[in-house]
Amino acid sequence: MDIITAVKGFKDILPQETGKWQYIEGIAREIFTAFGFREIRVPILEKTDLFRRSIGEATDIVEKEMYTFSDRGDEYLTLRPEATASIVRSYLEHAMHATDPVAKLFTIGPMFRRERPQKGRYRQFHQINVELIGLEDPRTDAEIIIMLIQFLERVKLSQLKLQINSLGCTACRPAFKKALTDFLRGKEAGLCEDCRRRIRTNPLRIFDCKDIGCAEIIEGAPRLLTFLCQSCEDHFTKVKEALDTFFIPYEINTKMVRGLDYYAKTTFEVVTEHLGAQNAVVGGGRYDGLVKDLGGPDVPGIGFAIGCERLISLSPLKYADFLVHPHLFIAALGNEAQKLAFKISNRLRIQGVQTEIDYAGKSLKSQMKRADKLHCRYTLILGEQEIMANKAELRNMHNAKQESIDLDTLEDTILNIVKGR
Ligand code: HAM
Repeated sequence: MDIITAVKGFKDILPQETGKWQYIEGIAREIFTAFGFREIRVPILEKTDLFRRSIGEATDIVEKEMYTFSDRGDEYLTLRPEATASIVRSYLEHAMHATDPVAKLFTIGPMFRRERPQKGRYRQFHQINVELIGLEDPRTDAEIIIMLIQFLERVKLSQLKLQINSLGCTACRPAFKKALTDFLRGKEAGLCEDCRRRIRTNPLRIFDCKDIGCAEIIEGAPRLLTFLCQSCEDHFTKVKEALDTFFIPYEINTKMVRGLDYYAKTTFEVVTEHLGAQNAVVGGGRYDGLVKDLGGPDVPGIGFAIGCERLISLSPLKYADFLVHPHLFIAALGNEAQKLAFKISNRLRIQGVQTEIDYAGKSLKSQMKRADKLHCRYTLILGEQEIMANKAELRNMHNAKQESIDLDTLEDTILNIVKGR
């Protein structure tokens, strides 16, 4: 019979990989906590309307990539394609703004987008996601970028580029949209079908299009940065100044519009040349109108999300350095020894010593082989004769040194040696 495999674009993170994941997540928790962020855990399933209203109807995510289903005819639900909308929903549902004007939140977990799977692109992927709601000072834009760069350095990512842009606000964007549509009019024939439609629905999205014809046309298009109002211009200047204070290098990418509609003012991405077409490891930006659009007060917000699979594949930290091996293997020979091994192993485990035993009554040789294969640091040899003499042999598997230890004080001796207590 054929085995049932995982769904296309969904992948397992195997035990030999999880150590590196946990380490990296631990660094994120440590750094974000120092910057005042607290963890929030939101559901992976939300009402579909939440994403329609926040990410925007005329985006690739909402048009093509969401896993949406009717919940037995009651309502439409969607597996979250990102976390910002869910966090803002939770912020509003729990009226966090009423108790504290500033919410600094992070979450780590799976997201779902039905994209075409390829290197660095999955249908279930993970994000480390940060949101700062309630502050509009440009220094906060720089602050979360400083925090992000600190994190990327700690997980040893190098050769990355920080790209920034400003997408303006409701005051300056309409004039830009008009200039862009005027520019695109008459060039429809060179655009792909989606972009021809986007001229009417969401012209900004044409900057994201991967089609070569569209990319060539967009090269000559006006840029939002030259349309910024005074307030957006000042904001952007102050963000750049604050980044300069910390000597954080950046490039200005005037074509970066991000794939989600909620952005305003500062946007940023961290990109690399080592991921092929999927070059963004991090994406983020300000979303000053989103809380209001979702029915809340007029509160600003900014955040970013790091793609974990891309991060893990780029980080030079080695999986092998995070593997956990047992402290001890108890090789028991004969009934009495096996009974004792069962008792000692569980007593030691309870005290934090990772201990493995053999249940199949194998020979000493094959038990030693298994201890070796599991990379156990020590093996305790318990034979009938040893038990009669109230002794056991403890073998250091690294240097093959062996010592005889007393059964009466066995646990304490092992705790001392193995755990250095
Ligand atoms: P995003 O740019 O859509 O932004 O995604 C952020 C990151 O998630 C990307 O840079 C990439 O590393 C990773 N990612 C996205 N799609 C995939 C995929 N199919 N496979 C693997 N990795 C992927 C957001 O999601 C925003 N919510 C970020 C944000 C937070 N903006 C403000 N706050």
